Amino acid sequence: MKARTLLVFHSRTGYTRTIASKIAAACDCDVEELHDEVGRGGPIGWVRSAFEAVSRFDTLLRPTRFDPADYDLVIVGTPVWFWSLSSPVRTWLRRHHAALGKAAFFCTCGSSGDRRALAEFEALCGPAAASLAFTDGEIDRADPAAKVAGFVRQLGIGKTSGRSARKTARR
Ligand SMILES: Cc1cc2nc3c(=O)[nH]c(=O)nc-3n(C[C@H](O)[C@H](O)[C@H](O)COP(=O)(O)O)c2cc1C
Repeated sequence: MKARTLLVFHSRTGYTRTIASKIAAACDCDVEELHDEVGRGGPIGWVRSAFEAVSRFDTLLRPTRFDPADYDLVIVGTPVWFWSLSSPVRTWLRRHHAALGKAAFFCTCGSSGDRRALAEFEALCGPAAASLAFTDGEIDRADPAAKVAGFVRQLGIGKTSGRSARKTARR
């Protein structure tokens, strides 16, 4: 039976969504974008996000569509907020970490904090099967496709990986 992959992410200003859409284009997966009931736009939204990042308070997530327990692999993506996970992703992970089997992680950041965010993810979920980090500048300047392809390959979920595996087996 085909392995099932779920991609879960939050994005406040679009960078993490850009990477999520590249990953989704490179593999077969269901996609869950996390939204919460909290306004995150403008300076007030920024301050609220900063407060939640520092205090590690949970947020009020809107209902989600997919149950991670139904998937063989869950890929989780977040913007870095104060060298840690964004509160919507932290809230979702606190709720679902026990249901995750194999899990992978990606994040976007202005310049730093990706390793601490990954450490926080791994403290909740165990070792990541693969991880990927981008700065905003990297996403603005260059096509992230090559790095995303490496990540997807490492996880063995590329759209072509089944076909190449069959080709290799036939030789
Ligand atoms: C509250 C807040 C805290 C942030 N903290 C960091 C940080 O610690 N390190 C960093 O490099 N970028 C930080 N950023 C910048 C974001 O991580 C970065 O712009 C990210 O790519 C945004 O992703 P998004 O567009 O998917 O929301 C922060 C942004 C916000 C809103």
